[in-house]
Amino acid sequence: TGLITIDPGYKNTGSTTSAITFLDGEEGILRYRGYRIEDLAEKSTFLEVSYLLIYGELPTQAQYESFAKEVTRHTLVHEDIKKILEGFPSNAHPMGVLSSLICSLTAFYPDSLNPNATEDEINLSIIRLIAKMPTFVTWAYKNQIGHPVNYPDNSLDYCSNFMKMMFALPAEQYEVDPVVAKALDALLILHADHEQNCSTSTVRMVGSSQASIYASISAGINALWGPLHGGANQSVIEMLEAIKADGGDAKKYLEKAKDKNDPFRLMGFGHRVYKNFDPRARIIKKAADDVLTKLGVNDPVLEIAQQLEYAALNDQYFIDRKLYPNVDFYSGIIYRALGIPTDMFTVMFALGRLPGWIAQWKEMRENNEPIGRPRQVYVGATERDYVYMSKR
Ligand code: CMC
Repeated sequence: TGLITIDPGYKNTGSTTSAITFLDGEEGILRYRGYRIEDLAEKSTFLEVSYLLIYGELPTQAQYESFAKEVTRHTLVHEDIKKILEGFPSNAHPMGVLSSLICSLTAFYPDSLNPNATEDEINLSIIRLIAKMPTFVTWAYKNQIGHPVNYPDNSLDYCSNFMKMMFALPAEQYEVDPVVAKALDALLILHADHEQNCSTSTVRMVGSSQASIYASISAGINALWGPLHGGANQSVIEMLEAIKADGGDAKKYLEKAKDKNDPFRLMGFGHRVYKNFDPRARIIKKAADDVLTKLGVNDPVLEIAQQLEYAALNDQYFIDRKLYPNVDFYSGIIYRALGIPTDMFTVMFALGRLPGWIAQWKEMRENNEPIGRPRQVYVGATERDYVYMSKR
């Protein structure tokens, strides 16, 4: 088998070539298909960025309209999926609910199980995913709070439809605040892809066995759930709340994070690739200020976050290890201002990351990549004889 190099966490192992996202961790550069994240967050929309990631080019007006129309046509989900949803206890974490509902699509659309599906069939699965995800996300929330679900409103744009399904009460005349819809759109763009991170690698890995696209995306959602990955945005707010409840002393928690005998880490800080700054964090920090000001929200944890960031950026431990706020440090503060509850934050990340996962899955398939199958170095017992239970 030759010499096997072990690289725990794949810190220095490339798993693929990819033409989707460029990331330079030293310079803090992030580009989707060559376009700067700063430009896309300011000038584009989430649906347009989804098209860009999945199909490789910014759409023309006609391409965009046709894509948006297709997505809108597929927002409804099968009524039987509601029964699956209703089977979950209301305290189920919405990430587990979401991954299950997405995986259930394999049953409703068994064509996705065919590894030789045509391009049109694959494209339909992609459209279904983009279209149904907001429905699933908002239904997971409604189920949690014990409210009836809302059906999609196809007269609205992607984010406005999402906000309405999420927050409208029965028979209520719900008006979507354009400031809120725009802020949400920008947040989703910032989360849309991030090359071979844990969840994306999972999607490619599962897909490499020619499993269904729905099963692959469902696996990605589960990988994203963990607190070291997408779950960090929930952990950040929980951490800030805990600091607030404990008297608001940011410095005390900074010391805890530095203490190697204490498992506590400063959530929302540090990144495997960004070692200077996370360009998404810069955009989000400004957006958090803007959104809170525009909505007139005064969130005391924002102040704690700012104190913590300032203290960490001036602390030798964090300087030496090149630890900076990452995308999740401020995203939760915006989600809160939009009225989204804490345990839905990671679900929001999944909503944003979906087009990236799809684009990566599609690229992996189009490149005919072999099944993912790393090797190991065995360190267990050498050969030994079986001992009957009576003799042990
Ligand atoms: N607080 C305190 N110390 C830290 C932190 C932190 N948040 N992050 C890293 N370190 C220390 C770590 O203890 C180690 O120190 P030493 O060299 O003395 O042993 C050093 O910095 C390097 O850390 P690492 O764990 O080897 O780095 P990694 O690349 O394996 O981990 C990370 C990256 C993001 C998992 C980690 O920084 C972390 O746990 N951060 C907190 C969780 C978080 O915010 N995750 C969201 C990531 S961005 C969104 C996403 O892509 O999901």
